[in-house]
Amino acid sequence: YAYRFEGAPLAGRHVLVTAGPTHEPIDPVRYIANRSSGKQGFAIAAAAAAAGARVTLVAGPVDLDTPPGVTRIDVQTARDMAGAVRAHLPADIAIMAAAVADWRARDAVDRKMKKGDSGPPALQLEENPDILATLGASADRPALLIGFAAETNDVVENARAKRERKRADWIIANDVSGGVGQSVMGGADNTIHLVTAGGVEDWPQMPKEEVAMKLVERIAAELEVANG
Ligand code: CTP
Ligand code: CA
Repeated sequence: YAYRFEGAPLAGRHVLVTAGPTHEPIDPVRYIANRSSGKQGFAIAAAAAAAGARVTLVAGPVDLDTPPGVTRIDVQTARDMAGAVRAHLPADIAIMAAAVADWRARDAVDRKMKKGDSGPPALQLEENPDILATLGASADRPALLIGFAAETNDVVENARAKRERKRADWIIANDVSGGVGQSVMGGADNTIHLVTAGGVEDWPQMPKEEVAMKLVERIAAELEVANG
């Protein structure tokens, strides 16, 4: 995909993007994860770089090439991702597209668990740090903080609540109710609702690259307004 912008609207800006899932180990061969191809986050990183930004992409385990001009940090777990984000601040704009695992196994072990006579193990879970919410509340908060919301129901309502709870400026909401195969997860297209302080913009279905392109244009316009 050839991202084309008039001039370099994000020149001089540092854009931090998270993308993909995180993998939370149970033992050396098993993990907990969310479904995520990383395509939308990688497309956003690519578009931001094409718009002239310095881009740091913190990526969970995905099978995607690093976009040209993008600095990529590979991580496995939510805690690794949180650490990598912290290490690469400050940023002017942060876009948290990763499908972070909400929970990790409390008692991960470094030897493979075996089937035995005692039946299936009962996994004890504990909650992972919320990277977006932490950033929203931090002294290093980027001037423009953008999160995603993957929802199966009450999409815009849930996204509005997330915007406030996490102190994000924008939430990009998408409906993932289609399930695997016929939906946004892993697919080429995305249908999003952009939730801002001013209201909700419903964007038509389009390829993830075009969502990325339009989002970067929207970000550039926002910065222009902010700078008078
Ligand atoms: N997010 C994050 N760290 C987490 C969980 C989520 O940074 N531990 C970010 C995601 O990258 C996304 C936004 O928060 O930008 C919303 O993620 P989502 O999973 O939709 O929200 P949750 O707050 O985890 O709520 P729930 O899964 O219960 O709907
Ligand atoms: Ca979640």
